Amino acid sequence: DWTMAAFKDEMIAAIQSQVGSGKVICGLSGGVDSSVAAILIHQAIGDQLTCVYVDTGMMRKGESEQVTSLFRDHYDINLIHVDAGKEFLGLLDGVSDPEKKRKIIGGTFIDIFEREAKSVGGAKFLAQGTLYPDVIESVSFDGGPSVTIKSHHNVGGLPERMDLELVEPLRELFKDEVRALGRELGLHDDFVERHPFPGPGLAIRCPGEITKERLDILREADAIYLDQIKKHGLYNDIWQAFAVILPVKTVGVMGDSRTYDYVLALRAVTSTDGMTADYYPYSHEFLGETATRIINEVRGVNRVVYDVTSKPPGTIEWE
Ligand code: XMP
Repeated sequence: DWTMAAFKDEMIAAIQSQVGSGKVICGLSGGVDSSVAAILIHQAIGDQLTCVYVDTGMMRKGESEQVTSLFRDHYDINLIHVDAGKEFLGLLDGVSDPEKKRKIIGGTFIDIFEREAKSVGGAKFLAQGTLYPDVIESVSFDGGPSVTIKSHHNVGGLPERMDLELVEPLRELFKDEVRALGRELGLHDDFVERHPFPGPGLAIRCPGEITKERLDILREADAIYLDQIKKHGLYNDIWQAFAVILPVKTVGVMGDSRTYDYVLALRAVTSTDGMTADYYPYSHEFLGETATRIINEVRGVNRVVYDVTSKPPGTIEWE
């Protein structure tokens, strides 16, 4: 695509002129946006870039391995893997308000990035894969100046307390454009088509207090749900799909004993930019089979429900 190729060259020139000979660290989440940002910046400045992948302890199953192997083995980009699960979970202990969760997580990311910026010999820049809808939605709901729906941590609130200057090459793009750019950069289709994954990770899919126990249950159930979607060939028809573990236990029966376990909600939506969305119309067979698998294979869940709310009035994530 010649337009995307020309656009890519322009962005590379812009990155080079912003950072000069400075060092840059780039937060990698495993999602398409930060991956595309990292590969683009690597083409612009090569070894001046170090990527930082922070394992918050709230990643999906297998996520850390996939990201590390893509960047280290396939692209040969400098990569630091920070294992920060204990740090994040400690700070989130007892916190259930969604915006407080985001503030704590955003603040902890910044602390870690500042530490890592020093560790690579004084990086002055922090790169992120912020997109246009992130910018809009963090500022206001419909262009008006006052209502914050969700403070996406890769946009709001960071710069005041941070010494690092932001590099956000995708700030004017929508998701489909980032995917096209990813293809232009040679990123594998499996990766380009990945569903978005929010910076706060499973924290915002665990309404109420976050505990290691609930995260582990969620991670297992979520993996089965995604496996079902891929097996049925539905992955690329869906914008985003994930499980949410509710802070509620209900009564059930397994064999001849009573159970008292968590409720799991499944979410799947179609969308073009994440700003509006419709719930995905699965067949009853798919839903039934998936619920059965989750309940049989994951200890701690005895009931599964499907969320049929569109956006608006719902948001895609539950928090
Ligand atoms: P909502 O829930 O606002 O989600 O309808 C729209 C898109 O944004 C993602 N999302 C986030 N991404 N940090 C992120 O990086 C966040 O705090 C955050 N909250 C929501 C969500 O996954 C969906 O793709």
